[in-house]
Amino acid sequence: MPLGRRISSSADNQKEPLVGASETQKDLNSLGKRIDTQENAGATLNVFREEEPQYSFNDIVLNKSTYDAIQDVLTLYERKEFLFDTWGLGESHKKQKQSGINLYGASGTGKSMAAHAIAKQLGRKILTVDYSQIESKYVGETSKNLVAMFDYARETESIIFFDEADALLSKRVTDMSSSTDVSVNQTRSVLLVLINEFDDLILFASNFITNYDPAFMRRILAHVKFDLPDESNRFKLWRMYIPRAMPTDANVELLAQKYDAISGADISNAVLNAALKAARLQSDSVKQSYFEEAIQTIIHSREENTGIGKCVSKRTVSEEYVKTQFEGRLPK
Ligand SMILES: Nc1ncnc2c1ncn2[C@@H]1O[C@H](COP(=O)(O)OP(=O)(O)O)[C@@H](O)[C@H]1O
Ligand SMILES: [Mg+2]
Repeated sequence: MPLGRRISSSADNQKEPLVGASETQKDLNSLGKRIDTQENAGATLNVFREEEPQYSFNDIVLNKSTYDAIQDVLTLYERKEFLFDTWGLGESHKKQKQSGINLYGASGTGKSMAAHAIAKQLGRKILTVDYSQIESKYVGETSKNLVAMFDYARETESIIFFDEADALLSKRVTDMSSSTDVSVNQTRSVLLVLINEFDDLILFASNFITNYDPAFMRRILAHVKFDLPDESNRFKLWRMYIPRAMPTDANVELLAQKYDAISGADISNAVLNAALKAARLQSDSVKQSYFEEAIQTIIHSREENTGIGKCVSKRTVSEEYVKTQFEGRLPK
């Protein structure tokens, strides 16, 4: 049964073994077992989330170059027949296997939103994969579930979206420091085969990666950069996120002009925080100074947090191992 249906069907979930019901669960031994079983059950259920797209391009403030770059690649999917049959790309580009778009750029610039907007424009559902979840799960189960997910995407013509895909896209290194690294690499190798065999659109969202894994990069048709908003886009974002109904003396031009190097997410959060403060103080309006304080706090806390990074360590596994993971269900 496709995994997506397993996720949405609560009746099916009830068939999962009920663990922890026995009285002996209080002793450490059975507690250990319970945790173990729960982890495996999590691996079955948490590989991806199936959704109707939540946003359209009308909801996102983007630079023209970013928007145009996305629309250019989408043409491949919207006018596939025309391009490949009428214009003959089907012959000249028979071996064209790239099917991925990598949306990259700073956090909070609208990459996840754009993935939804792309799915919406193409009239498809979106299957969001949380790769950091996968990394932490029991590897054997995870690989099988990934195969099921790709099958399900094919069957339902859904778009697979690897959000926060930095670890997935970054290069594997050959020194391996823990068994987790081995597991993660095994999953990555399985994924690479699946991505290789999949000829429909796959979306990735990542921050700035300096060390791309060439095996993944070969599958990416386009890299689309998401920039922090310039002044005119910051103006649109402030205006968009301050609700019409909210009483305020905000000077949106000034906010847009004065505070740069901030993202759409920062602006959205600043508006919320300013409103919370005004409500708490029972102020009759959300004052300009509240917006300024809120955005300054956000800028300041980010400055304090810079320099904290993630360390990724990976290893390559054998092709034999990857094949065993498919159990004869290797995609055609
Ligand atoms: N370009 C944008 N236009 C409109 N809202 C934005 C934009 N970028 C970020 N936001 C706001 O910030 C939130 C987080 O954006 P998200 O798409 O998750 O960013 P990213 O995936 O790039 O980290 C969104 O839900 C939205 O409220
Ligand atoms: Mg995101």
